[in-house]
Amino acid sequence: MRTSSRSLEFREDKQKALEIIGLYYKGPVKYAKAILERWPRSSGIVAYMNGETAGAEIVYSVDLALTVCVHYYIAVVPEHRRKGVATQLIKKVEEICKAGVYMATTTDDNHATIMLFMKLGYKLYRWSSISKRARNILLKATCGYDDDVLLIKGGNPEEVVKESEDVEKLWRETCLKPYIGL
Ligand SMILES: CC(C)(COP(=O)(O)OP(=O)(O)OC[C@H]1O[C@@H](n2cnc3c(N)ncnc32)[C@H](O)[C@@H]1OP(=O)(O)O)[C@@H](O)C(=O)NCCC(=O)NCCS
Repeated sequence: MRTSSRSLEFREDKQKALEIIGLYYKGPVKYAKAILERWPRSSGIVAYMNGETAGAEIVYSVDLALTVCVHYYIAVVPEHRRKGVATQLIKKVEEICKAGVYMATTTDDNHATIMLFMKLGYKLYRWSSISKRARNILLKATCGYDDDVLLIKGGNPEEVVKESEDVEKLWRETCLKPYIGL
């Protein structure tokens, strides 16, 4: 059954958001931790359904040609899935971020996440379908993998990209350094 958004509440809480992502996202969380600790323009939003923890998202913004808000990690507690929690969480994050352009990446076999974002108006791109320049910048801006897919709303990859000190710093501090164990 779909949940009315009235029974959902959202709170900013980086620590709690990281805990939820750590429990329900099947993958390393060192990049999630790094972004929250090292990138001031990051946030963790926790969703509560009737007072119970239901899910969380980790998000940050970075300046390219336009300011882009990146939905970095999202996870919903299994018992609360398919009730619209992630949908409402993403809408809430968009409302808070007010960036105009929103992006997410995921593996191309993560159909749930792809469907989730596409239903919210995000367009899907494979890295092979965009220019090398745009790909290089966006991979840095999202700490993405070559085999991920990109979901974007509010602009297309070519018009959003720009080399910037902001994206270099983001990549160095929150992607490269954790990767090499620094
Ligand atoms: C992906 C995830 C966040 C979706 O959360 P959710 O609260 O269940 O999503 P919603 O209820 O808002 O679903 C919205 C739409 O997304 C799609 N969707 C969600 N889960 C799906 C699934 N398991 N299979 C297929 N489509 C799915 C559907 O189109 C759904 O609409 P519908 O229920 O009307 O058919 C959740 O499954 C999850 O936590 N997965 C593990 C973590 C993860 O992979 N995170 C993403 C990478 S960081």
